Amino acid sequence: MSVIKPVRGTHDLIGEEAKRHDHVIEISKRIFSLYGFQEWMTPVFEYTNVFSRSLGETSDIVSKEMYSFQDRGGDSLTLRPEGTAGICRALVTNGLTQSLPQKIFYSGPMFRYERPQKGRYRQFHQIGAELMGVSTPFADAEVIAMGYHILKELGLDEGAVLELNTLGDKNSRSIWREALVNYFKSVQAQLSKDSLVRLEKNPLRILDSKDVNDRMLLAQAPLLHEYLTKDALEFWDKLRKALDQFKIPFKENPYIVRGLDYYSHTVFEFVTEKLGAQGTLLAGGRYEGLVGDMGGGDVPSIGWAAGVERLALLLENPPIKTNPVVIIPFSEDHHSVAFPLLQAIRYNGMGAEIAYKGNLRKQLERAHKSKALLALLIGDNEVNQNNVQVKDLISGTQREVSLTEIVSYLKNKLAN
Ligand code: HAM
Repeated sequence: MSVIKPVRGTHDLIGEEAKRHDHVIEISKRIFSLYGFQEWMTPVFEYTNVFSRSLGETSDIVSKEMYSFQDRGGDSLTLRPEGTAGICRALVTNGLTQSLPQKIFYSGPMFRYERPQKGRYRQFHQIGAELMGVSTPFADAEVIAMGYHILKELGLDEGAVLELNTLGDKNSRSIWREALVNYFKSVQAQLSKDSLVRLEKNPLRILDSKDVNDRMLLAQAPLLHEYLTKDALEFWDKLRKALDQFKIPFKENPYIVRGLDYYSHTVFEFVTEKLGAQGTLLAGGRYEGLVGDMGGGDVPSIGWAAGVERLALLLENPPIKTNPVVIIPFSEDHHSVAFPLLQAIRYNGMGAEIAYKGNLRKQLERAHKSKALLALLIGDNEVNQNNVQVKDLISGTQREVSLTEIVSYLKNKLAN
């Protein structure tokens, strides 16, 4: 019989890994709410054109990374490779384009057929945020500040650098694009094979080339910054000034273009050197035409997404969450006291577990190991006398507490 294996590029989140993952999401949700962002939950699959239209036919995601399939009804569906397109679709199909601005966050699994390596998976998770319907650069600064706040709260701000760029507005890009194409044509003979194809289909993609020779040619290529219109320059200045006011350190990097077609003006990435090749932790930018692509008119928006696995890998000490109380009945005969007590403790908002197996010594050992604080021992005497023995697992001391007082006793004890 063949061995059952997990699909390449997928991973199970169990134990320590699940805790790290959970911690990232919990902290992010708390910060999102401080900024007034509300959670949206959209489906993990959409009609394929939701992504192919918006992310750009020639983007890496659409051209080689999507999990697309035909369902039994013959529709072409795609497992979402990212969250922004689905959120824009949801804005339109829920009739919310007239209720702007919207401050949205989401979290969940995304799917990309990429070559798996450390920090890069085929099913991975993102947390993300979109502020939709606001065109001022101050919104960009606030949304970036929110990402920074999450990294800070996770203890990851010092190892991460915010790299920032502007792609200008449509006018800036079309004049620059012309200059760029002219330049690439003049050095055509030296371009890599892939970049020659890009020159035909989407010349801006050459900027993402990893080819060493291409990279050398790129160093001489005209920079978009030289072609920014007055409006684009003003936007860029205001953004940087607002980031300074929010006290968010950043580094300008004119080579950040991002792999998706939908961006204009602001693009940014928080990067770290601690994860090898997959060092982008949190990335995003401003987009204008996406909602229009879904038939909803232009809605100026700014957002980002972060890879939960990447953040989780970097966490120093994921917090240990354990239940403080363990109930140890000596045998099944003592369940008549143990079960109602277990329930009363939990109904009063305290965490408690019960030991089902093993002798007392083993059970106490296990309780110690789980980092519980108190063990409640229940034997014949306790059942007859309506009390329990409370063993303090840190000091080792033990005392008797009556069943009528035990809940308030625990509340007091655990509050300190
Ligand atoms: P993205 O740069 O494609 O942007 O992905 C955002 C983040 O998701 C990356 O920086 C990385 O941390 C994580 N990530 C991407 N691919 C993988 C993978 N295969 N394995 C593990 N982690 C991965 C977006 O997805 C845009 N929707 C961001 C955005 C929102 N822009 C505007 N609004």
